[in-house]
Amino acid sequence: MPLDIVVGTQWGDEGKGRLVDLLAAQADFVARYNGGDNAGHTVTVGEQTFRLHLIPSGVIHLHAIGVIGNGVVVNPATLLAEMETLRAAGIPITPNRLRLSYAAHLITPAHRALDQAQEASRGQGKIGTTLRGIGPAYTSKVSRQGLRLVEMLDRQLFAQAIRAHVQEINRYLTALYAAGPLDAQEIVDEFDGYAAQLAPYIADVSSLLAEALARGRRVLAEGAQGTLLDLDHGTYPFVTSSNPTAPGALVGLGLGVGCAERAIGVTKSFQTRVGSGPFPTELAGEMAARLRGTGANPWDEFGTTTGRPRRVGWLDMVLLRLAVHINGLTELALTKLDILTGLPTIRLCTAYRANDQTFTALPFGPSNLSAYEPAYEELPGWDQDLRAARRWEDLPAAARAYILRIEEQSGVPVRLISVGPERTQVIERP
Ligand code: IMP
Repeated sequence: MPLDIVVGTQWGDEGKGRLVDLLAAQADFVARYNGGDNAGHTVTVGEQTFRLHLIPSGVIHLHAIGVIGNGVVVNPATLLAEMETLRAAGIPITPNRLRLSYAAHLITPAHRALDQAQEASRGQGKIGTTLRGIGPAYTSKVSRQGLRLVEMLDRQLFAQAIRAHVQEINRYLTALYAAGPLDAQEIVDEFDGYAAQLAPYIADVSSLLAEALARGRRVLAEGAQGTLLDLDHGTYPFVTSSNPTAPGALVGLGLGVGCAERAIGVTKSFQTRVGSGPFPTELAGEMAARLRGTGANPWDEFGTTTGRPRRVGWLDMVLLRLAVHINGLTELALTKLDILTGLPTIRLCTAYRANDQTFTALPFGPSNLSAYEPAYEELPGWDQDLRAARRWEDLPAAARAYILRIEEQSGVPVRLISVGPERTQVIERP
């Protein structure tokens, strides 16, 4: 059955939106399965460019139905604002075009306040979260005190549930974090308005998708964040609170293990990270500034959601091999190859070294990486502008050699290569 999953293989911001845009042209459904408005995808419709945080970016293809799965945490204020932005850009958003899982959980202002209080209290050990309330919303879910979208369908019970939730979080805010309590009534009123607007969109997404797949429809699952931010498999505790990895798409959409066809690992040609946590191949100084860009271009390495400058470094094959096996990747899509143009040499981390030993894989996952030194291979760079290349043969030999080495090192074919910011600046390999 044709479920294709697009997943980030690094710490997010790999350029998944580009791939989704390309693949959504053939999809009947585009689905978000994890995370919340911590994510950010830049979308271009005609002359307009804007950022979506929650709605699957594939909905800009008018034939595709957007779906938000049970694995997502939904801030209704963000969702409604995005619905309006899309409508203003001429993209119709109606209950026929957007379905929200009844089992997805809500993010409230209380979750956001708790995220801020917890980050502030962590001091030097802060995770560097997006402060969007993601961790606290998933904590509510796991502790079985969360608010599911289905509760919006009974407004009276929903008001009671919101009030109890705010009162509960107020106890944490005041007792543990010396923060002021939130006004429960204000949030009850605010969320009553959201319930009225969102009720028509609430659906059984799992059955909807399962039936569509059985009828031969194509579903594209859009991962947010990336493999190394996965709660279970990433650089714990410097991770997000969901499972962005490909198996997370099955749980987060309510689909069985036999559904998936392709798992496409989107990989930036170098490595970036926003927020704290280990980053063995991180660069500083001039080379970092060169890869990051100045922030003048929308594709420069500054956070889509928070605007923070991203940390940058060389591509890390030890971590990419981990992503290949955790996700069961069938192929890679390599983004931003053009950014490497003009570098005399390019480094590729193929192993780590610690205590005179060489590690090509990690004995205990990627949590504590401070003991490791990256071992690099140096490959020649290229000067030719790549942006006009549309076929493999158009690429300079040095760029092809870099890609072939990534394939050898990862064991997975590179099927797509992006060579510029425009929609058409992509090379597809058969
Ligand atoms: P949270 O998801 O806001 O709790 O943040 C946890 C970590 O994940 C922080 O390091 C964030 O910077 C990072 N993070 C969350 N969402 C994204 C994303 O969409 N792209 C890149 N990093 C992200």
